Amino acid sequence: MNLSSNLSRESIIHFLEGGGPDSRLFEAARAALQESAGSGVFLRGIVELSNNCRKNCLYCGLRKDNRNFSRYTIPAGEVVTVLKSGYAKGLRSFLLQSGELLGASHIDHIEKILRWVSGNLEGVSMVLSTGELPAKVLERFKKAGAHRYLLRIEASTPELYKRFHPDDGLHEYGDRLRSLQMIRASGWQTGTGVLIGLPGQTSENLADDLLFMKEMDIDMCGMGPYLEHEQTPLWNRRGELSQLEEREVLTLRMISLLRILLPTINIAATTALQTLDPEGLEKGLMAGANVVMPNLTPMKYRKDYNLYQGKVHVEDTLDEVLKILGNRCGVIGRNVELENPGDPIHFTNRMKAQAGD
Ligand code: 5AD
Ligand code: SF4
Repeated sequence: MNLSSNLSRESIIHFLEGGGPDSRLFEAARAALQESAGSGVFLRGIVELSNNCRKNCLYCGLRKDNRNFSRYTIPAGEVVTVLKSGYAKGLRSFLLQSGELLGASHIDHIEKILRWVSGNLEGVSMVLSTGELPAKVLERFKKAGAHRYLLRIEASTPELYKRFHPDDGLHEYGDRLRSLQMIRASGWQTGTGVLIGLPGQTSENLADDLLFMKEMDIDMCGMGPYLEHEQTPLWNRRGELSQLEEREVLTLRMISLLRILLPTINIAATTALQTLDPEGLEKGLMAGANVVMPNLTPMKYRKDYNLYQGKVHVEDTLDEVLKILGNRCGVIGRNVELENPGDPIHFTNRMKAQAGD
């Protein structure tokens, strides 16, 4: 079977179902990465800005109706402190992530932080993952200096999406898709992603997720295993889940297949993958990922950003984290690229092609 970027749906399903062998798949993904983006590992410092959310996704611990933990928003001063220290250690890209909120104070807060970064940290690429927001708000963020946006489609099959989101008008598949399309059309470096291993999800669904990403021609992807959370409605269906090992191997196959389909994009070895397996970082990179996201959220907030249970809480200082990361990547022959914002080559090529049109 030909492992190239025009992989058929049937071949994708074949590999997802373990028709592999996996070793061949992972190797082909690494070769595709090596040829296009190279073997560098890019760092994205993540700040979990606020765990408030107006939504109620059935799988997520931060859902609005979960009242079993405290809600926070990190004040701008504290965010600035962690960004400064990340910058001093060589990080050149930061991701601000939060639940979805439309309130003016939340939007102003993000804008203020972006403006501070633009005025004070040179050569930094700011990434936002703050949900479905109106075009006007995104324009403000862009003017304030951000140029990458991550909005996971979560499940690209509308019927599956519907099963994991309440039917209350706030969680429409069509709205999410239009939001993602609007982001891409308005010039953002665009990222998406899906949950892997949801109850009832088939390899056909996952193959369609990959083809969706190919069709959308995205620049970045963060996708990880679904991990259960006791304080969510989906907990009741945990009996239907596949074993963690299976969800892990499926995630690795998804990473490799996406790398083959879209060789020049950035793909993250996600925290969920690393939560599932202490060697998730190495395995994700070996399967074709090239981005790692060290967590910069101040310690006192971390326990309250629980999307799922068992999320890794590293107590090490940033210095230690970076040293460990460097060593772990080195062991598998990969180099951590400090002082490099790591713009996806896919986006750069896209812009060049547009300019040449
Ligand atoms: N398991 C894994 N990932 C989850 N997310 C939310 N809940 C879970 C869960 N239980 C992911 C969603 C969201 C991102 C911020 O976290 O994909 O987009
Ligand atoms: Fe909110 Fe995102 Fe969690 Fe959904 S997945 S409840 S939008 S934080």
